[in-house]
Amino acid sequence: MNESPNTTLLRERWPEGAVVYHIYPRSFQDSNGDGVGDLKGIEQRLDYLQSLGVTALWLSPFYPSPMADFGYDIADYYDVDELFGTLDDFRSLLTAAHNHDIKVIIDLVPNHTSDAHQWFIDSSASRDNPKSDWYIWRDAKDHDARGNPIAPNNWLDVLTGHSAWQWNETRGQFYLHSFDVRQPDLNWTNPEVREAFKNIMRYWLDMGVDGFRVDAVYWLAKDPLLHDDPENPKYRASEDLLYEALLHTKSCGWPPVYAYLSEMCDVLKEPEFTSKERFMVTEAYPERHNVLSAYLQFYVGMDPAVAAPFNFEGTALPWEVAPWRDFLSRFHTALDELSPLCVASYAFGNHDKPRVASRIGVNEARSAAVMLLTLPGMAFIYYGEELGMQDVAIPIDRVRDPAALGDPKNGIGRDPERTPMQWSAAENAGFTQGTPWLPIADDYTSVNVETQSLNAQSSLTLYRTLGTLRRDSATLKRGSLSVHSSGCDDVLAYDRALNGHEQYVTYVNFADQTRICTIEPNNTLTLVVSSAADTVVPHESKNSLTLQAHEAAVFVATTPS
Ligand code: NOJ
Repeated sequence: MNESPNTTLLRERWPEGAVVYHIYPRSFQDSNGDGVGDLKGIEQRLDYLQSLGVTALWLSPFYPSPMADFGYDIADYYDVDELFGTLDDFRSLLTAAHNHDIKVIIDLVPNHTSDAHQWFIDSSASRDNPKSDWYIWRDAKDHDARGNPIAPNNWLDVLTGHSAWQWNETRGQFYLHSFDVRQPDLNWTNPEVREAFKNIMRYWLDMGVDGFRVDAVYWLAKDPLLHDDPENPKYRASEDLLYEALLHTKSCGWPPVYAYLSEMCDVLKEPEFTSKERFMVTEAYPERHNVLSAYLQFYVGMDPAVAAPFNFEGTALPWEVAPWRDFLSRFHTALDELSPLCVASYAFGNHDKPRVASRIGVNEARSAAVMLLTLPGMAFIYYGEELGMQDVAIPIDRVRDPAALGDPKNGIGRDPERTPMQWSAAENAGFTQGTPWLPIADDYTSVNVETQSLNAQSSLTLYRTLGTLRRDSATLKRGSLSVHSSGCDDVLAYDRALNGHEQYVTYVNFADQTRICTIEPNNTLTLVVSSAADTVVPHESKNSLTLQAHEAAVFVATTPS
């Protein structure tokens, strides 16, 4: 029987307060010396992940793929690419993760397949085969003076900023690829396509996965009349990416997105799968002028008992107190009003975004860790973030990312944040016995797991303290959040509280100077953990406390009865 929301409310839900570790399989741990990470490598590192307080893993795609977009171009949704291992390796990893009390969510890529997928091979063979309508095919709008077909509209491919339409001689038609030319878009208006994805979900759920991260969901629904995207009036041709020349109001984000996601939610609630809790997190970057309502639209459009949108403010907001204070108050108030089932889902970095320490600074990244791991909901840690790994400069002849290779203005693209995990000071940072697929950071001899494990002040030790605190604290998992005054403009302060459990207060100093904050009347604060290695905060007086530049600290608050 399907659970009613009330039953869901009564029990602990694993996504609430989850510490989710995001693994980009190519770059985490190589077990066979081919220079590319694999599933066996991940399994070997489960003890490490458990020691970090990790309660769930998200694995970027490991399916068979020509790797045009490093696995986000899938040729078979039911198997494992031999580069990463076998299906049995996946089953073994899943069992071992569960034995470590770690859930596993896997990447589901519904918007596009690889052009090597059998569906696309069939679909492109003729205009009247059983798969002919599984992709988005259109006739040429016209032909130019030389007789070349003209694309149906002006839509651009997200990765390279060139036309999103590719001519296919056999069909005498264009196909749409919102991403790389080798990633044709599926036609989600076709119920057979939707059913195919439900079956893919069922297959992995049946195997025991705990849920999905769903890729690029805004592109599932576009303007069915294929109107042109409007030009971006703020576009600066000399600086901006080619893709930014247009505003993408027609090529993605149309309302059926939510209906399709809701159908996916229904699969998670099918009776066969509710013996344990399944959950999915959707990837969509809202337009900056509309952030809050865009996030809320997902909570309204999907079932918050089983799904949440990623919250990407940690990758987008400047590291400044005002936008963070404003966002946290408005977002969490709105979620509380909407439904107690809503789970926030914070990621401060991922395989598509600059590393957090490179974006905001090393000390700031330590503060951000304190914040990430004391906010409600799911906290996603991108592999290596716990070490303070930084973007790595990639020599031009080693650039691999199709986005960088396709748009010269994209510089070196996304490779800098995808370099191998730094395990030790040994050769190749202990990542591989072979030649790593991307260069290893120069700082690996000091920034690595082995070295930082021995250092009580390291970033890794900070993450371990925070991760295990969160894993073991009912308040940090399920408590409410309220933002309150810190008595200082540069310092954000918020409480986490849950009836019958200890109350936590987090202070985050965004200034690059010492700041003095006020303590809520009648509260006594006891320091639990601070981002500043040589903190002075235990010396607070009854009414105030002093935070160092960029220090973030967590306290237990007690009020005398
Ligand atoms: C989002 C993924 O995170 C990114 O790496 C990929 O290139 C696109 N979606 C296309 O699948």
